[in-house]
Amino acid sequence: MLVTPSPVFVETPRLILRGAQRGDDEFFLELFNDAAFMRENTDQLRSLEAVRAYLDWAVRYRAQRGFGAFVIVDRARGNPLGLCTVVWQRELGDEHIGYSLLERYRGEGRAFEAASALLEASWARGARRMFGIVRPENAISHHLLGKLGMTFQREGVVDGRTFAWYRRERPALLAAGSPWL
Ligand SMILES: CC(C)(COP(=O)(O)OP(=O)(O)OC[C@H]1O[C@@H](n2cnc3c(N)ncnc32)[C@H](O)[C@@H]1OP(=O)(O)O)[C@@H](O)C(=O)NCCC(=O)NCCS
Repeated sequence: MLVTPSPVFVETPRLILRGAQRGDDEFFLELFNDAAFMRENTDQLRSLEAVRAYLDWAVRYRAQRGFGAFVIVDRARGNPLGLCTVVWQRELGDEHIGYSLLERYRGEGRAFEAASALLEASWARGARRMFGIVRPENAISHHLLGKLGMTFQREGVVDGRTFAWYRRERPALLAAGSPWL
């Protein structure tokens, strides 16, 4: 099946974020079966069938809400590196930001670069606040949420597991010169 990549949603110096879709299934199968990803997530997305169902959901979610799940792509080489999401969370009654990279692409600032661009796009779209949900043990992600301007709120339970909840309010003014203005 020939799949045309979905349009670019956000660009950063090194990265492109575009909507996740069916043609990304092999990449997502690898990502969702990564050991660190599995530690952090309650989803059972280990088979190709489950991944395809997730990608169909992602396409529907984006069509309805404009946001959702985005593939982080290397801008120069065009290959997928990871996932960055802004999705509604029932327990929060609001949206939260998420990110994950294949292990070989971690540790070079890409998660922060992708997440800060998606956060800025969320403010521009009219989001009033953003949450982050992280396991207490995930030191890298706690650090990243802090760098994204989020502050720890409290611990809460999602699907029977304890998570730390972070929150950030929309900035009073978007930065002058923002490409979103
Ligand atoms: C979380 C994840 C996306 C981070 O990717 P990454 O490419 O390493 O992220 P970045 O390079 O942008 O930023 C990592 C930051 O954490 C810091 N860091 C690294 N190890 C750390 C540690 N043990 N404790 C605290 N901070 C740490 C880095 O120094 C860097 O901060 P800096 O830029 O201020 O120096 C990646 O580890 C991953 O995919 N993990 C598995 C899935 C996951 O945990 N997702 C988040 C669920 S909430």
